[in-house]
Amino acid sequence: MKTLFYQLFEKETSTYTYIIADRKTREAAIIDPVIETIDRDLNLIRELNLNLKYVLDTHIHADHITAAGEIRKRMGAKSAISKAARVDCVDILLDDGSTLLLGDQVITAFSTPGHTDSCMSFLFDGRIFTGDALLIRGNGRTDFQEGSSERLFESVHKKLYSLPPDTLVYPAHDYKGFTSSTIESELKWNPRLGIDKKKTDFIQIMSELKLDHPKKIQEALPANRACGVKHE
Ligand SMILES: [Fe+2]
Repeated sequence: MKTLFYQLFEKETSTYTYIIADRKTREAAIIDPVIETIDRDLNLIRELNLNLKYVLDTHIHADHITAAGEIRKRMGAKSAISKAARVDCVDILLDDGSTLLLGDQVITAFSTPGHTDSCMSFLFDGRIFTGDALLIRGNGRTDFQEGSSERLFESVHKKLYSLPPDTLVYPAHDYKGFTSSTIESELKWNPRLGIDKKKTDFIQIMSELKLDHPKKIQEALPANRACGVKHE
């Protein structure tokens, strides 16, 4: 095995955090860390003797506060997010197709907007971390943060569904107890974004969802635009 992979869960907001690493060099990245679980995650990184190079956010989250800024400060890891997030508190601003290295293994960033305009998915060793773009048998909401159902449909169909069918899908959230999927399964069975579903129907369905705003949106959005680091 060339890769180390850990999937971690924050139960209040049903958020998945991922740690990926190159086994040989121990170079690692953490994806979508949550401030409440920072100590658990950093302890694991220490136990595994990993050299944390990057802390990545798939997008500016509205439901929880990112631990990215705090991890950058404590561990000296470089933080990265999409250029489209328009934040100035990160080390690396990612474009569509940007790459980062863990040892000689490549993380490729794909721009997958729609849930927000800054959403990115990260591909590493046969796994795609889809943030809130493609969920397991679902997808992220598109009703705030410059969300666009049309763009989300295009991102999933044109970008994510062009990956090899056996690519493993790891989303930022799951509310039903699923942990992973594959591109092939979502393409076949995703109820709104399956390959046989029409864009016009998707836009209609999304426009009719009446979802409550996330509980922490008022504090999470401004905090995350500052990378989760509080300025008192
Ligand atoms: Fe989100």
